[in-house]
Amino acid sequence: DTGLRAAARGTGTKIGTAVDMAALADDAPYAAAVAREFDTVTPENVMKWEAVEPTQGTYDWGPADDLVRVARRNGQAVRGHTLVWHSQNPAWLTEANFTKEQLRALLRKHIFDEVGHFKGRVWAWDVVNEALNEDGTLRDTIWLRALGPGYLADAFRWAHQADPGALLFINDYNAEWISPKTDAYYALVKSLRAQGVPVQGYGMQGHLGIQYGLPGDVLENVRRFDALGVKTAFTEVDVRMILPADSTKVQAQAEGFGLMLRACLLVRNCVSYTVWGFTDKYSWVPGVFTGEGSATLMDEQFTPKPAYDTVRETF
Ligand code: XIL
Repeated sequence: DTGLRAAARGTGTKIGTAVDMAALADDAPYAAAVAREFDTVTPENVMKWEAVEPTQGTYDWGPADDLVRVARRNGQAVRGHTLVWHSQNPAWLTEANFTKEQLRALLRKHIFDEVGHFKGRVWAWDVVNEALNEDGTLRDTIWLRALGPGYLADAFRWAHQADPGALLFINDYNAEWISPKTDAYYALVKSLRAQGVPVQGYGMQGHLGIQYGLPGDVLENVRRFDALGVKTAFTEVDVRMILPADSTKVQAQAEGFGLMLRACLLVRNCVSYTVWGFTDKYSWVPGVFTGEGSATLMDEQFTPKPAYDTVRETF
């Protein structure tokens, strides 16, 4: 029993991965590794709005239910991802089709229906995803335009009503460094909590690229959030590089994974550290970042890289 699950045991921080449902169904070594290495699972796509309600009023919970069932069998907690986002919404959900009042009602219904469907079966929800711009202002999205800045508080209140037992997170990327965006993220979490909005945690997605350098101040950054009494989660960690990989890049990658995990373990209340896929075989990186890849803990044959050993040893 030498996997990551074993290494994380007793630390108070769960080790997690995003799960690709097609791989889980078709690739037995992949499914075995999910079960062996991880305490929590996040559906990479199947809980997103476009996946659960492709046609208005007709839900398809099938793939997400499958994930929840597998997690239960494996003794794993589920991180629900994600309820309110500007991306991967259904094609029918447009501002041309609905008034602002209707969009508000649709968002409310979406949150009640989805959180309600999984009530008692989802440990933590990423309620609002990627709400901030790099300059710290709120991102101009369908939700900001229709509901105004109060959409964040509304979303958390609705989710909490639908499942008072689930931990509710706000989640964002490029939040590992201290920056105007991260200062705004911190201020937003602080202000929501001061208003009594049920935000129990904040997520650091943790998508790094070694060509941009590593966030040397990540511990200082998470410490200030931790001092607010909120839970920290690293939610989507991967560390990409410009291909081809070489031993220097792979070493820098291991440092990136380790740096973020160390920050997580050194604050009081970092509940989980989730990687956005654990094998290059199914990583989203090459499809989105041209010329980049090798971003995960294992290569395409599931051979662990130095980053895997670093994660295990850091725990
Ligand atoms: C990505 C998935 O990995 C891809 O399969 C999909 O095509 C696009 O979305 N931030 C997030 C995740 O919060 O939901 C994104 O997941 C990656 C960036």
